[in-house]
Amino acid sequence: MPDTKDLIRRNRQWAERIQADQPEFFSRLAKQQTPDYLWIGCSDSRVPANQIVDMLPGELFVHRNVANVVMHADMNCLSVLQFAVEVLQVSHIVVCGHYGCGGVKAALGNQSHGMIDNWLRPIKDIYLNNEERFQAMASEEERLNLLCELNVKQQASNLCHTNIVQNAWRRGQSLAVHGFIYDIADGKLRDLEVDINSPQQLASIYRLDPDG
Ligand code: CO
Repeated sequence: MPDTKDLIRRNRQWAERIQADQPEFFSRLAKQQTPDYLWIGCSDSRVPANQIVDMLPGELFVHRNVANVVMHADMNCLSVLQFAVEVLQVSHIVVCGHYGCGGVKAALGNQSHGMIDNWLRPIKDIYLNNEERFQAMASEEERLNLLCELNVKQQASNLCHTNIVQNAWRRGQSLAVHGFIYDIADGKLRDLEVDINSPQQLASIYRLDPDG
C-alpha cells in the first residue's frame, strides 16, 4: 500500500527531473510568481489544474473546492480572488467544472451527505431556475451534465458580482472571466464561451457603483 514516504520519494524524482531539464527553474520561481491565470476548479482528484492545461508551477494561481463554487461569504475564495486580481494582477479567471461532478450530483439528488449539503445547497437554485430545461431531458446523466455546465456559468457570474472584479474593471484593469468544463472520460476541456470582461455584461441589479 502506498504511504506518505512514497510522496516524498516521488517529489524528489520530480524535482530532480525538472532541475536537470531547466537548471534555473526553481531559483527563478523562488524569487516571484507571475501567473496570468486564476483557476477556480473542483477538488476532484481527477481534475488537477496544472496538468490538464499542461502548465508548470508558476503559471496558474489555483483555488479548488467541492463543485468549484464561488460564494460571496466564503472568505477563502474571496481572499484568493482579491490577491490574484489586485496583487498578482491576473488577466484571466477560469472557472473550470467537470462532467460527472460528485458535488453537483449530490445537489441534484435528495440524499443527505452531512455538512456538505449546506455548501452544495446553492446549486439547487440553479436547477430550480432552469427546471423546464431539466425536465425535458431524457436521462439523469444528461441532467447532471447540464447542471455541471450551468453551475460553471453561475459561478463565473458570481465572480463578476463581487466588488473585487468590478473594482478591477473600474480601475481599467484588463480582466476577463471564463467558463470551461472538463470531460474526465477523454481528458478534454471545452470552452463554455463565457467571456465576461465589463460590467455592461451584467444584469443591472448586480452592478456596483461607488458613486451611486
Ligand atoms: Co467535482
